[in-house]
Amino acid sequence: MRHNDQTADVLVIGAGVMGSGIAQVAAQAGHRVSLYDSRAGAAADAHERLAATLAGLVERGKLTGDEVTATVERITPIAELTAAGDAGIAIEAIVEDREAKNRLFVQLERILPADALLASNTSSLSIDAIARGMTQPERLVGMHFFNPVPLMRLVEVVSGLQTDSDSAARVFALAGHWGKTAVHARSTPGFIVNRIARPFYAEALNLLQERAAEAAEIDACLRGAGFRMGPCELMDLIGHDVNFAVTRSVFEANFFDKRYQPSLVQQALVEAGHLGRKSGRGFYDYPAAGAGDTSGFRPPDAPPSRDNIGVRGQGPVAEHMAAILQQHNCRFERINDSKWIGLQVDSARLRLTDGRTAAELGRDIAVFDLPLVHEPGSALAWSHAERASANWVEQAPRWLALFGFAPQQVEDTPGLVVARTLAMLINEAADAVQQGVCSEVDANRAMCLGVNYPAGPFEWLASWGPAAVIRLVDALDAAYRGERYRVSPWLRQRAWSDTGGHA
Ligand code: NAI
Repeated sequence: MRHNDQTADVLVIGAGVMGSGIAQVAAQAGHRVSLYDSRAGAAADAHERLAATLAGLVERGKLTGDEVTATVERITPIAELTAAGDAGIAIEAIVEDREAKNRLFVQLERILPADALLASNTSSLSIDAIARGMTQPERLVGMHFFNPVPLMRLVEVVSGLQTDSDSAARVFALAGHWGKTAVHARSTPGFIVNRIARPFYAEALNLLQERAAEAAEIDACLRGAGFRMGPCELMDLIGHDVNFAVTRSVFEANFFDKRYQPSLVQQALVEAGHLGRKSGRGFYDYPAAGAGDTSGFRPPDAPPSRDNIGVRGQGPVAEHMAAILQQHNCRFERINDSKWIGLQVDSARLRLTDGRTAAELGRDIAVFDLPLVHEPGSALAWSHAERASANWVEQAPRWLALFGFAPQQVEDTPGLVVARTLAMLINEAADAVQQGVCSEVDANRAMCLGVNYPAGPFEWLASWGPAAVIRLVDALDAAYRGERYRVSPWLRQRAWSDTGGHA
């Protein structure tokens, strides 16, 4: 009879950052854990460090002394893999090297019982490639934790072509038993999170490369959209060496698809040793002052003008504008049937971006970014046409401020900051779903739990609508040419099924 996964002994191989965290989580869930590392003394050192960290949590009232003692006692550092020959579950967190992992799993197959679960915490290698040489490759499952393991709730359960569904289901259930939220992913480059998240960094790096905005402006805008951190400060935190390596690996693994092309801006930072927080310098110098801080924002007391005002289009942005104008007793015309959304003042226009630049749209034009959050003081990017009148250039940001946004002027670039980032995140998620990497629900869950996004890509899609996303990505494609901004066929299908198709 098969052992019970919830009470089985666990073997963790690799006592580094991830392995120690996995050992802790397994021990806290009640398993006896053997911790092995090929470097002599590394497992014992990790065990000692863990005991000290957990003792610190007792002082801060997060755990009781008894819980810590029990957890620490359940973990045994071992000097030989064979000492864990009875383990029912083995989780590998060794160096990210395919051949080292191949050798290890071949060995584990020999040492452990025939029904033991075999899992790899790889972040970038294919599960089938890791299973090479195994007698029963169907036993191998990816169990991809996020750093720091005890705090991050997400686990991607990754299946290769050969993985059997029963093994994946067992790993999925085990993650749940350990208090994690598991999602199923097919073994493809970057799995779910590291793939869908690429545009979050790439769009920021593109904006920097074309000198459309400064790092602090980009960060302020994405924080203004509800992200906990902007992409530049986040890359500084992750480390540019690590982030660049992940981007390169996804790029190479996709046969150099331009969509995932790494950035020269980031390469330069890596080459200069400006790796971010850990080296004291990245986009920012550390310790850094709050980048792009808008906390001192106060909206103006009155509208910049009161004549010939129209609110155009429908949806939350137009509703918000109309509500604010009413609060100020400002007379305006409501033009629902409009090709664009925003504010008209005489012949001047303040338009929600549809991906085209202000210059492309006419003379007295300012475009503003997609507002996701309507809290006063949320940073919002805007730009104006080069030939816009001085009067409109001065008035447009005052209107945005009246609507409660802290205006961040950027160069007149297609899709501004938030709109292009979100559109590309949605587009990437759509491709992932089409290719069977994950479900829509799991993509949403993975992005919210794995990288703390304020909402999942398909939640944004539901509120923004596929037609608007497609229009934006197509506009980016028209502006840049190339392969980066190609619309996911899945999105076009979705738009057609929403509208009943072309016919
Ligand atoms: P790390 O460098 O902190 O730890 C790796 C440990 O494995 C070291 O202690 C090393 O001595 C040991 N080791 C190396 N080869 C070994 C072998 N053949 N047998 C036994 N032990 C061996 O690395 P980290 O960051 O803990 O990563 C481990 C794995 O987890 C990698 O596959 C990585 O891609 C993956 N991962 C890392 C994440 C991170 O944020 N650091 C996130 C998710 C996955």
